[in-house]
Amino acid sequence: MKKWGKIFALVAAVLLVLSVAAFAQPKHWVVGFSQIGSEREWRTADTISVQNAFLEDPTFTLIYSDAQQRQENQIKAIRSFIARRVNAILFTALVETGYGPVLQEAKRAGIPVVMIDRDVAKEDRGLRLTIMGSDFIKEGEKAGEWLADYLKKKGLDDGKKAINIVELQGTTGSAPAIERKTGFANVLKSHANWKITRSQTGNFTSSEGKQVMEAFLKADKNIDVLYAHNDQMALGAIQAIKEAGLKPGKDIIIVGVDAVKGAFEAMVAGEMNASIECSPLLGPQAVLAMRDLRDGKKLPARIYTIEGIFDETNAAEALPTRQY
Ligand code: AHR
Repeated sequence: MKKWGKIFALVAAVLLVLSVAAFAQPKHWVVGFSQIGSEREWRTADTISVQNAFLEDPTFTLIYSDAQQRQENQIKAIRSFIARRVNAILFTALVETGYGPVLQEAKRAGIPVVMIDRDVAKEDRGLRLTIMGSDFIKEGEKAGEWLADYLKKKGLDDGKKAINIVELQGTTGSAPAIERKTGFANVLKSHANWKITRSQTGNFTSSEGKQVMEAFLKADKNIDVLYAHNDQMALGAIQAIKEAGLKPGKDIIIVGVDAVKGAFEAMVAGEMNASIECSPLLGPQAVLAMRDLRDGKKLPARIYTIEGIFDETNAAEALPTRQY
């Protein structure tokens, strides 16, 4: 009897340890990540940041899907995540509109969708839980405010003489293209002599940025400022400006967004004037949000990234520390 008592106590102790361990161990979660594709190093840095952050936490498995810049591939990917009954979906929307039905399907299946970097259109925001990433309107405003300060500092703006600005827009219909335009236009309102003389999409790529800038210069060389919705397009445009016999950063003031290494090199070389930071290093934030979600915590309606502005005053010092 004594012997059985001891065995019983031992088994009970083992069971207790196992159940405590199981209780302490967070539930394993499978997260589907629909990425838009890869324009260049910004997007690659973003993808790697997310993949590495999830790899570091063995309580998650990330299923990655690269849409190769096609909305229909994203819709298919989200449907396959739903069919696999993932625990949550991380989603970067290529463009804002057109995802309503698939987001409805995720909602019906009870799978939370967290946006990362690019959001969906206002009317579909009720179908996703939150958005983490940059404030694109603020970025456009920062670009405009930086320009106003710079022109003032250099004595280039008397408030009367026209300041001719050309704009290279990002992918048509994407949140960063729409909102960076809006943000810049907000600042433009208080400068009556600033004029956007031409504005066209360069699709966030350097090759298209170069082509469009070539066309702008062909039509009219009287350009004071280039505002590019990302640095890649600005870097392509710099080539076009040089080929047109002008000095980028001097004859034409150039402001980009992202703060990629190439922009820092151009700023240090005096060929670009400023870049508004938009950080792609969103992986750690994404993992934190997923952990909170798994723990039953309520996520904030918006999770912002803190970012800076770089120009000739601080680019050289920051360049060695840049991760993308
Ligand atoms: O959505 C963020 C934007 O997308 C980055 O500014 C750009 O470089 C990328 O293509």
